Amino acid sequence: MLELRNITKSYTIEGKTIPVLREVDLELAAGAQMSLIGRSGAGKSTLLSIIATIEQPDGGVLRIDGKDTTAMPDAALSRFRNTMIGTVFQFHHLLPEFTALENVAMPLLIGRRHQEAFGEARALLERVGLKDRAGHKPAEMSGGEQQRVSIARALVGRPRILLLDEPTGNLDEETGLAILDLVFSLAQEHGLTTIFVTHNKQFARRMATGYELKDGRLWPL
Ligand SMILES: Nc1ncnc2c1ncn2[C@@H]1O[C@H](COP(=O)(O)OP(=O)(O)OP(=O)(O)O)[C@@H](O)[C@H]1O
Ligand SMILES: [Mg+2]
Repeated sequence: MLELRNITKSYTIEGKTIPVLREVDLELAAGAQMSLIGRSGAGKSTLLSIIATIEQPDGGVLRIDGKDTTAMPDAALSRFRNTMIGTVFQFHHLLPEFTALENVAMPLLIGRRHQEAFGEARALLERVGLKDRAGHKPAEMSGGEQQRVSIARALVGRPRILLLDEPTGNLDEETGLAILDLVFSLAQEHGLTTIFVTHNKQFARRMATGYELKDGRLWPL
């Protein structure tokens, strides 16, 4: 489902080049669940953005479902991204002026009947335990509730791959674990290939496969 070969990425700031990813290789079968740990600045978010096809690597090949994404033209790539990949980022990026229901339905509202979009959004909000919060705006919800809205939004397009970047980072341990459990069962229900970035080793160990990103490479846990 997911294949990375020799992925490299560096950033240049004020004439100084910092290599972030030196040589990343990875293969994940459909439905596999993986955790990714590494110290702050190791390049976890960079790697996830590359896998999400939001950022381009400097070199190497990224194949998703057998297709070489580095060779796709922009329009085809964004269509491919929208159908294949769901993301939950470190900072949730919910739209503040819209309700939970509208935020979840948003990815479906382009090109689909509104009734259908809101129906699916409502079902997912119920699945993440937020049936009673559908009409609330982000500012009227707790951090954990907002994060669950983000998870519902990531799933509404029925992706095959789910990428989560520290979704429990600024939550208390108990809420974090509850969200992790929720992601686990959703990933299993939907047969999603999942990559879960976390600082927490206890979280990381609960996934079948785990890697640490260090010195620009992936090391099995
Ligand atoms: N757009 C950018 N321009 C320049 N440097 C960047 C950019 N994005 C990231 N970096 C640098 O790349 C390195 C890796 O950053 P990244 O955000 O991937 O780390 P991370 O492992 O996700 O860290 P954290 O655990 O703190 O989220 C850092 O040194 C960072 O300063
Ligand atoms: Mg990060």
